[in-house]
Amino acid sequence: MARRKLLMGNWKMNKTSAEAKEFAIAAKPLAQLAKANKIDLGVAPTYLSLQVTRAKAAKSMIVAAQNCHYKESGAYTGEVSIPMLKEMKINWVILGHSERRAYDNETSEKCNLKIKALLANDMTPLYCVGETLEEFEAGKTKEVVGEQIRKGLEGLSEEDGKKLVIAYEPVWSIGTGKNASTEIAQDVCNFIRKVLKECVGKSASKIRILYGGSVKPENIKAYLSCPDVDGALVGGASLKIDSYTKLLEEII
Ligand code: PGA
Repeated sequence: MARRKLLMGNWKMNKTSAEAKEFAIAAKPLAQLAKANKIDLGVAPTYLSLQVTRAKAAKSMIVAAQNCHYKESGAYTGEVSIPMLKEMKINWVILGHSERRAYDNETSEKCNLKIKALLANDMTPLYCVGETLEEFEAGKTKEVVGEQIRKGLEGLSEEDGKKLVIAYEPVWSIGTGKNASTEIAQDVCNFIRKVLKECVGKSASKIRILYGGSVKPENIKAYLSCPDVDGALVGGASLKIDSYTKLLEEII
């Protein structure tokens, strides 16, 4: 069965709750359009805007958190747990984003704990991997990405694999306007699928792999034409409703 396309906006530390609400309302017709074309559509607001976005967005719109803790509760100042997200009807969480890996000590081992906790709660982890410019220039992309996948998914079963979504985002391409060629995107996503097969067996063929890094309306179609790229994780170009609309229209 073909993998369903997914367009996910990562808002990072942008939008007040009022702005998130405005976007969620404006995006309602888009959610219908996406559904009619068998495309999954989503956004990842900050914690503070999750509730209002979930309440105002169309039901079919995925509203994802940008992080979570793996413990249910406890003395972890500044953290938010999975049951707290579930209560808000938030069922998706982005993990291992390169900005969190770089600034918040989010390691693949830590992501592994979070992925297991999310799966145990029947939620969807969107696990991000990608190499830095230095690693890319040293020809270490596959070594780095392979290790991030193997460590992040350690101990997962074939059944677990069915609920996973992966995003490949070369760090040197995030927010820089420097795009990875479609050849690179396909080559690395194909490699990721092979590593996924080692980790979770047959379900690897069902796992959606998104490409991310300076994705815009002008280039999204080319990325999605790659056989192993099933969607996009988009930062900057997902913030304005006009550009988000164009991203969707390009892949219909
Ligand atoms: P960008 O960010 O689209 O602004 O490059 C992508 C991401 O970090 O997910």
